[in-house]
Amino acid sequence: MDGGRRLGPGWRAADIAEQGAPRRTATALAEIRDDLAQGPGFSIVEGLPVDGSAAEEFRRFGAALGRPLAQNARRETLVEIADFTDEDAFDERGYRSPGELTPHTDPSPLIALHCLRAARAGGENRLVSAVSVRRAIQAARPDLLAELEAGFAFYIPDDRREGAGEIRPAMPLLAEGPGGLSCVYYRPFIEQAGEVSGVPMRPAQRDALDLFDNYAMDPAFQYRFALAPGETLIVNNFRVLHARDAYEDWPEKARRRRLLRLWLDADWLPDPPPAHAQRRDPMARLFRDEGPLSRPGHPR
Ligand SMILES: [Fe+2]
Repeated sequence: MDGGRRLGPGWRAADIAEQGAPRRTATALAEIRDDLAQGPGFSIVEGLPVDGSAAEEFRRFGAALGRPLAQNARRETLVEIADFTDEDAFDERGYRSPGELTPHTDPSPLIALHCLRAARAGGENRLVSAVSVRRAIQAARPDLLAELEAGFAFYIPDDRREGAGEIRPAMPLLAEGPGGLSCVYYRPFIEQAGEVSGVPMRPAQRDALDLFDNYAMDPAFQYRFALAPGETLIVNNFRVLHARDAYEDWPEKARRRRLLRLWLDADWLPDPPPAHAQRRDPMARLFRDEGPLSRPGHPR
């Protein structure tokens, strides 16, 4: 991306087609921070290795941008994204299986994904600006925007025990703060909260989620691309939703799609609105009253 009109937070597919997605080298930290905080909320970064030094270099790149956060009950700050369905005893977290992931947010302020190997087929990435989705909903159905801002109960699975989890009281799906919009969205956990609590959603709430999905899954709102080996995607998870197509992988483990993921917080990002304050250390709830955790018997 050089010159021309700068991509702002409220982009749609046509804006990226016209101006290109921001592509940066791994040393262009000031530009990457600007893309994430003031620009379109993502960058595609080139130049990190895919060989034996990949994990170390990727960690170093992440640490130059922010503070790595624990991503699971084992407090891992670097996790591998691959198809583990033939290893996992159970899985309530989609990143360990090859199915489609519809537009959603992760828990952390920033997500970095470093691609080591692509799948045999499929697995394309899609990004959507939550700012654009919010604008479209506000124009079409302000009454349903009010439902999204009022919030939904969320189910939070406990990845240490199959079938265990807790229900978080209603949290806004979209919230405006001094630093701009923050979006928290993962529909399966909203649906699960209704099932577990026995309190079904009101029809207006369901309509609001359906409308949100309609825009978030509309190709006119999505930037679709394939992350190639050696490329790193970094996303401002407050403002940009991500999705992934289903993929077909190689039978041999050594050839399978493989990505490394970091969740980061960064002082240079504005604070989320108070209703989303937990995003700054999303796994903290797991460690509230426990010492170091392990997951006996879980294959690594
Ligand atoms: Fe995700």
